[in-house]
Amino acid sequence: MLSPEPRPGVLDIDAYVPGKSSAPGVARIFKLSSNETPLGPSQRVKEAYRDVAEHLEDYPDGSASDLREAIGRAFGLDPDRIVCGAGSDDLLNLLARAYLRDGDEAIHTTHGFLVYPIATLGAGAKPVVAAEKNYTADVDAILAAVTPRTKMVFLANPNNPTGTYVPFDEVKRLHAGLPSNVVLVLDAAYAEYVRRNDYESGIELVATSNNVVMCRTFSKIYGLAALRIGWLYGPASIVDAVNRIRGPFNVNAPAIAAGVAAMADTAHVDMSREHNSRWLAWLTDEIGKLGLEVTPSVANFVLIHFPAAKGRTAQDADAFLTARGLILRQVGAYRLPNALRMSVGTEEANRLVVAALAEFLQKAA
Ligand SMILES: Cc1ncc(COP(=O)(O)O)c(C=O)c1O
Repeated sequence: MLSPEPRPGVLDIDAYVPGKSSAPGVARIFKLSSNETPLGPSQRVKEAYRDVAEHLEDYPDGSASDLREAIGRAFGLDPDRIVCGAGSDDLLNLLARAYLRDGDEAIHTTHGFLVYPIATLGAGAKPVVAAEKNYTADVDAILAAVTPRTKMVFLANPNNPTGTYVPFDEVKRLHAGLPSNVVLVLDAAYAEYVRRNDYESGIELVATSNNVVMCRTFSKIYGLAALRIGWLYGPASIVDAVNRIRGPFNVNAPAIAAGVAAMADTAHVDMSREHNSRWLAWLTDEIGKLGLEVTPSVANFVLIHFPAAKGRTAQDADAFLTARGLILRQVGAYRLPNALRMSVGTEEANRLVVAALAEFLQKAA
């Protein structure tokens, strides 16, 4: 008897496993596993969200005009070149569906964000992995991986889970080396956190080319991960293609209202950035002083490397920390079995993790 069969590629997907959010038997937990902000959204955003509760019977504006206009105002962009999605995950998948055919190839880097191979396989295409150097995307390796079948390159900049970034000159060199029919997806989910003169999220490159798209999210610095809001800025042709296949109401009304308010509250974003800069540097120093290697990060998380010795591994550390309610992220699925990723937390959480790591290493010595 015939039975329903998913399209080729679907069953090759290792489903995305989100960061843990609980620790059995522990009353007070600190969730540092999904790069959420410890400061939450601003008060004004919560009010805007609550106000929509009076009108839940109405469909949202399917084109999310108010949100696209608010983003356009904030970043100096044409709202017609913006598409909003249910998180940037939605947009990454839509881009793959719109531009990849069976047998095409899409490149991502060794420790690149896991949604890229999922979106690629889901569209019937083949994920191709380009090697990184020092946990950082390597433009030469990406260009060397290009074949006539390549139709998309995904670059998380900064990258999750490594926290490293590619300077804008290198991004431009990557773009210049790609065939013009390849879509370069610059995923700048953590752009707001970066404080480097040689970094650019991709706006300029999108504005001056036909094959570059930048994706952004409200899930990180704006503190709205629960609402699922992302946006892309792209050339008119790509915006048109994505608009044809996206869900007609893919961003819900409370999300639109909260997103508009979040764009306006620049003081909250500045405060969140300040908090992050301070504690990112502190965590990098303090964890380094314990003798653990920390990959230099420009985002809102750090990648901590552990020894392979029994009793001192990343898994051992994860169990030790989880028992104390400190929930970090195992990153074996990112080809980093000896590391844990920690989101920058509140001062209390950050201090507790450093103290617990010191205790863990002492105990294991
Ligand atoms: C690099 C990167 N891109 C995209 C996303 C997805 O974000 P969103 O919540 O907007 O779907 C994440 C979330 O962790 C991420 O790390």
